[in-house]
Amino acid sequence: MNFYDLSELPLDAVDRLASRAIALKSGAPARRFDGRALGLLFFDPSLRTQSSFQRAAGMLGLDLVHLTGGVWGIETEPGAVMDQDKAEHVKEAARVLGRYVDVLGVRAFAKGGNKEKDLADPLLRGFMEHAGVPVLNLESARFHPCQALADRVTLDESETPKHGKFVLTWAWHPKALPVAVPQSTLLMAAQRGMEVVVLRPEGYDLQQDVTARAEALAKESGGSVTVTSDRSRVAGAHAVYAKSWGSLLDYGDAAAEAARRADLRDWRVEAKTFATAPEAWFMHCLPVRRNVVVTDEVIDSERSIVIEQAENRLWAQLSVLESVLATAAPRRASRFTKRVVRTDAPSPESSSVLEASP
Ligand code: CP
Repeated sequence: MNFYDLSELPLDAVDRLASRAIALKSGAPARRFDGRALGLLFFDPSLRTQSSFQRAAGMLGLDLVHLTGGVWGIETEPGAVMDQDKAEHVKEAARVLGRYVDVLGVRAFAKGGNKEKDLADPLLRGFMEHAGVPVLNLESARFHPCQALADRVTLDESETPKHGKFVLTWAWHPKALPVAVPQSTLLMAAQRGMEVVVLRPEGYDLQQDVTARAEALAKESGGSVTVTSDRSRVAGAHAVYAKSWGSLLDYGDAAAEAARRADLRDWRVEAKTFATAPEAWFMHCLPVRRNVVVTDEVIDSERSIVIEQAENRLWAQLSVLESVLATAAPRRASRFTKRVVRTDAPSPESSSVLEASP
């Protein structure tokens, strides 16, 4: 079982993962998986995802194989003639790591080059196809399911009304950021049955298939999805989730993107706007640029729950790891195991290879 997009799971499965995360946070003992191993492979920076997965591994008794840099450049194209900069194909990289660990987490952001190729998540999908063990998406070009589950946990524990108003608002940022977090957030809130308002300037629509799926999920759960540029729609919200993302119309063209957003600097969450939603929580996945995306006054207020969201990464991921490891088949033995293990071979107790050395 891979964990690529939270909304691929049925709502009752998401409910169970969130409930288990809250139980773990309340002190329920975590299951132990001593002798099994978690692999983490980061092609991009992280503070929360790395540290919370490391902590989760310890709490579950897992060995940790943590790769954050220095791995070979990885080719993903089938049939590639590898005479350029990439030294290893994902087919080997994934299969090898799958021999060392029982579950593998991979972070691979969009590269901002070819939109269609990037948004197909070739690196992550390559690992999912070839690792032979469950692969967790630790943020790809399209989705960030661990963040979405932590956000769902945060909405539940803060008793945000199930069908409450959830405003996902675009914010200005000096760089064009990926769409993974807003897309996963949109799907999560829609599947929870909320009245979701995606507030963005013209030209900043999320992927069409994601928005259409969010609309369908909302319909099933008694919620709705509205996409608008009308910033007065913050009024009456139960949650205001700020996030910046790049225009998919200018994908890979930094100059065009910069021109498009040049006049949009006032798209940030300020006290005046936030006051129109007096019952709302302020949410953000972090890291956040203070006084660019949100003012100090709002993020430092009692109604800001960004630190709870970050803490809940740990509990949500514990819940996911427990679920994945409880159902994952044991790793496949080497195809040569039967030939190597002979009944007449000396046992490790009776002799030592090192003692026999000159
Ligand atoms: N929200 C999030 O994924 O944080 P990091 O990028 O620091 O892991």
